[in-house]
Amino acid sequence: MKLLEALSPDGKERELALALDPARIPAHIAIIMDGNGRWAKRRGLPRFAGHRAGVQMVRSVVEDCSRLGVRALTLYAFSAENWKRPRTEVDMLWRLLRFYLRHELQDLQRNNIRLQSSGRVEALPPRVYEELRSVERATSRNTGMCLNLAINYSARNELVDAVNAIIDEARIAGSLAGLVVDEEMISRRLYTAGLPEPDLLIRTSGEMRISNFLLWQIAYAELYVTDTLWPDFNREELLRAILDFQKRERRFGGLPEAAAEMASQDEEPLPDEEIQEIAVPQ
Ligand code: FPP
Repeated sequence: MKLLEALSPDGKERELALALDPARIPAHIAIIMDGNGRWAKRRGLPRFAGHRAGVQMVRSVVEDCSRLGVRALTLYAFSAENWKRPRTEVDMLWRLLRFYLRHELQDLQRNNIRLQSSGRVEALPPRVYEELRSVERATSRNTGMCLNLAINYSARNELVDAVNAIIDEARIAGSLAGLVVDEEMISRRLYTAGLPEPDLLIRTSGEMRISNFLLWQIAYAELYVTDTLWPDFNREELLRAILDFQKRERRFGGLPEAAAEMASQDEEPLPDEEIQEIAVPQ
């Protein structure tokens, strides 16, 4: 685990990192980075200061995830609903994103990170869109972690886009009349096609909701909600989230191994009368 090289020989971070099972690092972590505004408010600062502090944390989480061997990291940077915010805040977010893309390219290259985006990015202000495409192109051959930025993203839009793509392709192929859609066809047309599904979904600042994020892909993700505000979500917090994830027993709708073993040894299935007795207690 490369991260250990970056840590001081003693201290909490090293202790947490050493407690991790390197064989069970989540392949894909998705994060709803919430709480920038509250972070700023608590300090009597403008909301912009919270977003700026949030970008610093993006930097450090990206590097740490890459050093931990995470294969994909999806960050919810701007939702399709965020356009409803005041114009000045939206403009500031675009400026910050552009600044991040421009200044982070070197670091992404050094860490062999590939940047990609998810969302209706064509609707971004042209200068942000161009910067995004240019960093995507420049890092497209990198073979390390994929940093997937969800920008102008809505999971419902994503599903609508996927279904429309399937219909268009069938129309072109002349097979629309007999079209039958299955899960695989949808998965292959999502913005995240080719990435593993998120194993761990982190939401900062305590809200218990999904906010139209990766609705299809998180079907079996483990959820981790922390009260920590995004600009305070430091390395220690990230390591705690992954440690918590490693304690979970993932069942994907099945049974834990021991219980499955016992269930398979169960005697004869119950006769109908006994099922009825259970369903309608006398
Ligand atoms: C939520 O905080 C955060 C956002 C809407 C934007 C997240 C953006 C960044 C961290 C910066 C840009 C991202 C990148 C990848 C460079 P909030 O404003 O909703 O906080 P609040 O709920 O406390 O008001």
